[in-house]
Amino acid sequence: DWTSDVFIDATIAELKEKLGDDKVVMGLSGGVDSSVAATLIHRAIGDNLTCVFVDNGLLRKNEYEEVLDSYKHLGLNVIGVDAKQRFYDSLAGKTDPEDKRKAIGNTFIEVFDDEAHKIQGVKWLGQGTIYPDVIESVSVNGPSATIKSHHNVGGLPDFMKLKVVEPLNTLFKDGVREVGRALQIPENIIGRHPFPGPGLAIRILGDITPEKVATLQEVDHIFIQGLKDDQLYDEVWQAGAILLPVQSVGVMGDERTYEKVVALRAVASVDGMTADWVHLPYEFLGKISNEIINKVKGVNRVVYDISSKPPATIEWE
Ligand code: XMP
Repeated sequence: DWTSDVFIDATIAELKEKLGDDKVVMGLSGGVDSSVAATLIHRAIGDNLTCVFVDNGLLRKNEYEEVLDSYKHLGLNVIGVDAKQRFYDSLAGKTDPEDKRKAIGNTFIEVFDDEAHKIQGVKWLGQGTIYPDVIESVSVNGPSATIKSHHNVGGLPDFMKLKVVEPLNTLFKDGVREVGRALQIPENIIGRHPFPGPGLAIRILGDITPEKVATLQEVDHIFIQGLKDDQLYDEVWQAGAILLPVQSVGVMGDERTYEKVVALRAVASVDGMTADWVHLPYEFLGKISNEIINKVKGVNRVVYDISSKPPATIEWE
């Protein structure tokens, strides 16, 4: 019979055996998988694990500070890297969704490789890979295949030559959450909605500027906080806001306005492969729409996305 306690004890023993006195480096995303994997490795080898958490300037409002704080409370040896400007520079003028993804992926590799170089004698790369990722990466378009293809020319970055340790690669998401709760990782990490690696960049249609990111962070924060306040957050698999490259006419007092439109999206799903739009209560949507238009400068219209996947995807880019 599988229990999280048995899994935790067996995994820590295995990690101790495998890693000995070796050093491990690992990138954290703020998500469930990497947080649980890092906590397990930390239980096994303590401060021989160095974690790297990168602020790519595309996270949710206050997310970088809050998550870094949670990691420190967990006792993890974590280096926070403010790389916002590097990411914004790499994205400047790019509008194609795949170009944006590539720029972000490559910049992440550069930033992470710089940090990994600072650790003397590191031998292993820790990863939060879970079982469904293992299956996915068998396909040619799997995430690891994509990362590597960009780096074949000049050789792989040094951290990719490290041996890989993946303590969660036999678990599904539910199992990861159970293990995380047993490890007393806070609920703000365990219960959080999935969030894409490229972050808000694929929810800002068109080119990325720090101003657009700031606008979308405010909108997203009102929506997510509203879901939490009304006990709707846990009913939804994933939610977020999208900043559209569209202006529409509105009226404020007796002034005509011509400002941005945002879309709200909330979906129910099991694994992200298919998804249904969630029938959020009209009263809730009305309240959130008013709050966004009243509080966020530059936005005068809110729409709700009622498309399911397929044929629409969860993200707009
Ligand atoms: P789609 O939009 O394909 O999204 O229906 C399915 C799930 O995957 C997430 N997603 C990504 N995650 N890098 C990621 O790490 C990406 O480029 C990416 N694109 C989509 C999305 O948020 C949803 O959970």
